[in-house]
Amino acid sequence: MADKIAVITGAGSGMGRAIAHKLAGEGVYVILAGRTQSKLETVAQEIAAQAGSALVHPLDVTQDDQIQALFNRLANGHIDMLINCAGDWLIQSIDDTSAEAIDHLYAVNLKGPYLMTKALLPLLRKSNNASVINIGSVTSMQSHPQVTAYTAMKTGLRGLSGSMAEELKPDKIRVVLLAPGPADTPMRAAASPGVDRSTLVPPEAIADMVWTLVSLPQGITISDFLITRIH
Ligand SMILES: NC(=O)c1ccc[n+]([C@@H]2O[C@H](COP(=O)([O-])OP(=O)(O)OC[C@H]3O[C@@H](n4cnc5c(N)ncnc54)[C@H](OP(=O)(O)O)[C@@H]3O)[C@@H](O)[C@H]2O)c1
Repeated sequence: MADKIAVITGAGSGMGRAIAHKLAGEGVYVILAGRTQSKLETVAQEIAAQAGSALVHPLDVTQDDQIQALFNRLANGHIDMLINCAGDWLIQSIDDTSAEAIDHLYAVNLKGPYLMTKALLPLLRKSNNASVINIGSVTSMQSHPQVTAYTAMKTGLRGLSGSMAEELKPDKIRVVLLAPGPADTPMRAAASPGVDRSTLVPPEAIADMVWTLVSLPQGITISDFLITRIH
């Protein structure tokens, strides 16, 4: 995998960080994207300490000009993997959810992956085995109360992934929605304070699954699926 290149959004923490570690450990050159430079720098240092290679590129996935700046930086090369992991959450009743909150969740969880994929497609098309992995959620597949706006975006991401997978078949680019159940990350710690961590999916297990997906032979793909903890 020495010549393989991945872009990972949300790489500064949680699942994105674990995915960056896994891919870098397998010899992939990882480009770490997210809003907070210091978090990305820390992950890059951890990867360098384990003889991996990483590039820090701060960006906000809701801002097309910032995504274009990443494209411009990488334009002479190619990308083999785009992992759309950046996201935000909201547990709130329908009554309390504001129009602004809905717009924000839409921008981060749905528009962001769309813009990232669209912008980087010319570079993915240069790969001989490209993958776009969209990190959905159990709410992409199942309905729960108090998460209507988040659920709308994560089911939207499932639809986006399926339609993109169809459209990009001629390019042999696999697009897969990976939908984790409750996972042991900072997002979950904030959403469910005091949760029994033994009931959560370790982010490393999700990273291993991402590695399995991107390692499939060219022309082989898999449909969207849930990854959950047995407990
Ligand atoms: N934890 C769970 O139980 C769970 C379950 C199912 C699905 N998920 C999904 O898994 C993904 C990763 O979440 P996580 O659990 O690993 O939480 P996390 O540790 O909070 O990671 C989310 C990352 O997204 C980045 N981010 C947020 N808004 C961004 C933006 N506008 N532009 C660029 N980066 C942005 C954050 O960094 P900055 O703030 O520095 O930008 C952060 O590093 C999310 O899509 C989430 O919806 C989580």
